[in-house]
Amino acid sequence: MRNIADSLSDQDIADLSAYYSTHGAVAGAEPPAKPSKEPSAEVQALLNKANCASCHGANFNKPIDPSYPKLGGQHADYLFVALKAYKVENNPKVGRGNAIMAGMAKQYTNAELKQLANYLSSVEGELKVVPQSKFR
Ligand code: HEC
Repeated sequence: MRNIADSLSDQDIADLSAYYSTHGAVAGAEPPAKPSKEPSAEVQALLNKANCASCHGANFNKPIDPSYPKLGGQHADYLFVALKAYKVENNPKVGRGNAIMAGMAKQYTNAELKQLANYLSSVEGELKVVPQSKFR
């Protein structure tokens, strides 16, 4: 993905983002106000430790800044790989090198990150899998 992303200009990235953001969109639909699944006490303690919702917002779907990602409903395996990648230092091939999230992810073991990823994927969010057009 890095080689492909490197070939894109900032304008290309903005255009692609705008295109994909319209997929599966339902006009006026708001994400539900309550998590579809309450976290276990154990997961709640993990979420509280780094106060994940303070940036990623209510239901992990209302980030405090538009450049911060929505997490609710994202695939668990994607979230787990992303969280582990924030722990990697000085290896841009596999690491994400983001100062904010590095500080968050490094507070957890990989097993704890997996618990967080599994929970976040169970939260009802705007993210959805949209079939390719030939299947619509
Ligand atoms: C201080 C604000 C802040 C806090 C607190 C925070 N995050 Fe983040 N998070 C961010 C930002 C900013 C990004 C985007 C980083 C980047 O560009 O890679 C991000 C990215 C992510 C991503 C990658 C999403 C994707 O689509 O690739 C995951 C997963 C994530 N955060 C989970 C968490 C979890 C779990 C916690 C709590 C342990 C947490 N975050 C706490 C600001 C925060």
